[in-house]
Parts: sequence; structure tokens; C-alpha cells
Amino acid sequence: MADAPHPVDSEFYLPAGQFFPAQRHVALTYDDVTLATQFSDVLPRDTQLNTTLAEGLSLNIPVISADMDTVTEAPMAIAIALNGGLGLIHYNMPEKEQLRQVSRVKNHVHGLIQDPIQVKPEQQIGDVLRMIEERRFTFSTFPVVDAQNKLVGLLPGHVVKHRYATKLVSEALTPRSQVHTLNVRELGNNPIARADRFFSDNPGIHKILVVDDQDCLHGLFTLSDIERITLERRAQFKPARDPKFRLVCGAAVSATRNPFGELDRERLINHVGALVDRGIDLVAVSTAHGFSKGVGEAVRMIRSAFPSLPILAGNVTTAAGVEFLAAAGANSIKVGQGPGSICTTRLVAGVGIPQLTALYVCSRAAAERKVTLVADGGINKSGDIVKALTLAQAVICGGLLAGCPEAPGETLEIGGKLYKQYRGMGSAAAMKAGAAARYGHTRDSAQKVAAEGVEALKELSGPLDQVLAQLIGGIQSGMGYLGASDLAQLRHRARFIRVTSAGQRESAPHDVIEVKTTK
Ligand code: XMP
Repeated sequence: MADAPHPVDSEFYLPAGQFFPAQRHVALTYDDVTLATQFSDVLPRDTQLNTTLAEGLSLNIPVISADMDTVTEAPMAIAIALNGGLGLIHYNMPEKEQLRQVSRVKNHVHGLIQDPIQVKPEQQIGDVLRMIEERRFTFSTFPVVDAQNKLVGLLPGHVVKHRYATKLVSEALTPRSQVHTLNVRELGNNPIARADRFFSDNPGIHKILVVDDQDCLHGLFTLSDIERITLERRAQFKPARDPKFRLVCGAAVSATRNPFGELDRERLINHVGALVDRGIDLVAVSTAHGFSKGVGEAVRMIRSAFPSLPILAGNVTTAAGVEFLAAAGANSIKVGQGPGSICTTRLVAGVGIPQLTALYVCSRAAAERKVTLVADGGINKSGDIVKALTLAQAVICGGLLAGCPEAPGETLEIGGKLYKQYRGMGSAAAMKAGAAARYGHTRDSAQKVAAEGVEALKELSGPLDQVLAQLIGGIQSGMGYLGASDLAQLRHRARFIRVTSAGQRESAPHDVIEVKTTK
């Protein structure tokens, strides 16, 4: 039978339970191993990538965007949830702002631009032209609203011209009576279908404004967005939604201490309560050293106050660390100390375990404790994700997503190339901005302690949809090679073998002059 293991293969290509114990004297990471192919009748495009992190929290793709201040705020969390994954809103911002970010994700109506750029009747067309240039807008039609946010009209693109620079917006706009609108109450359960019907019924109209009973502006649909979304509906991986059909969203919290150095229970519970009120699907107690008293206490406090809230906690790299956090009440454990592309923990502190060995060791305890694992950091390519998913239920990506336009921060131009900032949360700058608690320091002491991360740049990439399409395609290829139709089968069918540095060289393009690396 094609699927029965051949005794020769079984001597060389070992399942995790035999492979890792046989390598117990050495810590391995993704590039140190490769996976053997298996008989397959599975086409990559037919593979399923859904994963469950905790009871009541499933994703359609096993990818989570990192809770870092250069990776995940509302735009990234929205984009990744629309692709079937989960974003973790970072905590390097005031608590109120984090609540606002979560609300933006939970209230996101796909396709509706909820805060469209508006202009005022008393502005000049010249002001509008300057705004377009400064903020590099690619559109030139704007709703016009008064000081009370009431709709006054629409400024059409064909009058936003230098010829009219000194004219007032009020002189050039299409008046309210001629502007097409929908009432927010008309949107119902399926706003996209409603907007789609409007555009079909009104040939030549490309924008529709949404207003409330007081005629205040609530948003804007464009025909091109609606057409793109209708195409996406056929996509294989559906958006990750909660039972109320809202996008899923996670938020990270720190084990904050009060001025006496004790865990600030009241502040933590109040903030998590406010996150829960806004519909958060998972809270991540996110620190560099999860196997520590403070993190255990924080998880216990959250668990007793919110018995059914999914909790992700970490980071750990030992079986004892997994047991500790599972016993405290975490549903899912974040594994990774020092693998991140901007991390210097291993250099600065001399600690941390290469990621695959850490994942294997943690997976043994996770199986016993019935908690899930998330592989956090060090993912540089889709093949790393395939290897991580042989031991974990999902991966967290920072650097791979930090170049997307959806990541926070400005795009910088240096020497004719476009970049986005990407920094470690343990870098001096991020700790100064508030992330010190993650590394066990207070904000005041942050300037005196050793940084455990660097500040860096990532080349600007395409939008998240494109980046994820490449990653997902790679994961599906890996599953096809292993004959795995879902992630449980991938874990079951994975067979490992070590590679040498010559093998690693062989694995990458070599002895050629590369002219094009990606499509
Ligand atoms: P990648 O490799 O995806 O890693 O860029 C992202 C993960 O790295 C962790 N992280 C840090 N670790 N010092 C560290 O040692 C840091 O300054 C730092 N900042 C982030 C974090 O787990 C993230 O998800």
C-alpha cells in the first residue's frame, strides 16, 4: 500500500516523538531540519487550514499578527481577520486608545469606509489639492460636511483642479439634494449586498454616502471596493468572525505593577473588563518571561474574573513553563524566547532556546495539559510555518508582516527605496514608549536597563492580502507534499531529518545569478 511506511524510510525520517528525543543534546530551529515527503492524494488547494486556539475561538488560517507597535493596530487586525487570521493589538499605547482600536476592529463593516476623508465648505480647492499631495491620496472626490458633521454635499474629482484653486469648496460642490445617500438603518445584515444593489440600480454612480437620521455622515462605499469584495467572496479562506458576525480581534495586556511593585489587580481587571465589553475574542498576557510569578498571577486574576475568556499567555520555552501557565488558566501558550528577527535576548541575556526544540518540548506538556501552542517569532518564510505547524496550532508573525501598508507607521523613502519601521518591543525606543513591563522593567528604569531588541527597517511590501496569499500558498504546498488535508494530519504525518549547513545551502537558490525572487 502506497501509504504504509517503508522500513528504510522509517529508519531515517522520524516522527517528532522519536526525532527530537534522539537530538536531545542540541537545540534546533527551523533551518536545522527538513520534512520528508509522503504519499499524497491531496491537492494543495484542497487543504484546510482552520485551527482552534481555545473553546469558542477558531481561525480559518493559523496566522496571528504580533502584538508589536510596528505591526498590529486596527488596520492590520482588520486585514488579517478578513483573511481568516487574528490580530493582537499591542499595548504600547494608553489603555483608552487600545479600547478604541479594538472597537474599530469589532465595528468594522467590510467595504464601508467608516471615517472617510472629508472637507469643509469654507476651505479653498487649493487647500484640498495641497492635502492630496501631502497625504499622497490617490482619490480626489470628498464628502463635504459642516462643523456638526452634517452632510453639505460632495466635492467631485473633476473640480479638484489647479484652475479652481482659489474657489471655495462651497462654490464647487455638488449640493446635498443631488448627492446619493443610504440611511445607515437601510444597511441591514448585509451592507455589501445593499451597496451592490444600489450601484447596479444607478449606472455611472461610483460612490454612495451613508448618513443617519440627522443627515450626519457615517461612511462611504465605493463601487471598486464592492466589486473587489464580491470577487473575494469566492476566496477559499473566509474572514474569521465571532458568533455575532463581527471580525475577531485579540489584545495584549502586560502584568502591570502598582507603585508598591505589586500586580495592579484593579487596573488589570478593569481594563480586561472594558476589552471584554468591546467584544474582544482573546486576551494575550504577553511578556518576555511567562514562567514568572507576576505573569502567573495576572493569568490567574483574569481567569477568575472572566471564566470563559480565551487567554493566550507567554512566552515560555520549557514544559514546566507550559504547565505553570496552563495551571494558572491559560488556554493557549506562546512559545519563543529570542527567535524574533529583531530580538537580541539571546545575545544580551544569554538565554532562550532555538525555536523547533522549544516547540517540541512545550508540545509534550501542552498535549498533557490540553492547551494549544502558538509559535512566536523567527518565522522568515512559509516553509518555517509548515515546520512550526507540525508542533503548534498557529504562528505569530512580526517581521514578515511589518512591511505591509496596514502596519502602523509612516512609509519612509531612503535612497529611492520605500521602507517601514520595525522595532523590537524590548528595544530602547519601544521600552521608553511604554513596553518596558513586557521585559520586567518599569518605564522609569527602562533607560538604565539593557535593551533586548533592535530598531530596524523592512522594505515596504505589498498589501497584507498579497503577503498572506504567498504564505498560505506555501503552507498548502507543504501539506500537499505530506499528503495532509488538514493541520491535524500535518502534525500526524510530519517526518523529520536534520540538515547540515551544506544541506541548508542546497535548500536555497545557489550557483545562479538571481534576477527575480518573487512574482
Ligand atoms: P519575528 O521574527 O516575526 O518575531 O519578527 C516577532 C516576535 O518577536 C518577539 N519580540 C521580541 N523579542 N526582543 C525580543 O527578544 C524584542 O525586542 C522583541 N520584540 C518582539 C515577540 O514575541 C514577537 O511576536
